[in-house]
Amino acid sequence: FYLLLLLFYIPETERVSKVTAVLLKSRTGEFDLESILFLKLRGLGIYDLGCIGDCINLERLDLSGNNITNLAPLSSLRLLQILNVSANRISNLEDISSCDSLQSLNVAGNLISR
Ligand SMILES: *[C@@H]1O[C@H](CO)[C@@H](O)[C@H](O)[C@H]1NC(C)=O
Ligand SMILES: *[C@@H]1O[C@H](CO)[C@@H](O)[C@H](O)[C@H]1NC(C)=O
Repeated sequence: FYLLLLLFYIPETERVSKVTAVLLKSRTGEFDLESILFLKLRGLGIYDLGCIGDCINLERLDLSGNNITNLAPLSSLRLLQILNVSANRISNLEDISSCDSLQSLNVAGNLISR
């Protein structure tokens, strides 16, 4: 009975609250964060973008369907061209105004009022 109960507690999808170097390296197979050009972190329950700003050469980033409120860690990503942060809890886009290379931005399904 207890074994059965434990089995039901195993979450269907992986949950991650904070982006760490270990997570980034294991997801991409890259040894250096600077080597990561494309990153897809969809629907993981991410709340804190942590050290994502260390991926300074990132060009495409998909963070859709998480629990993100603060985009400040992305402000160092000067080469970022495509960003998808749809379906999060973002209310403000000022922090990514320094992302000079941005060409495509998806912010659908957030809390942005203006
Ligand atoms: C989103 O984050 C808040 C605050 O950390 C937490 O209480 C809530 O459970 C999270 N929701 C999801 C869907 O992960
Ligand atoms: C952004 O992510 C959403 C949800 O995962 C997806 O439906 C949509 O196609 C993506 N949009 C872009 C422009 O990548």
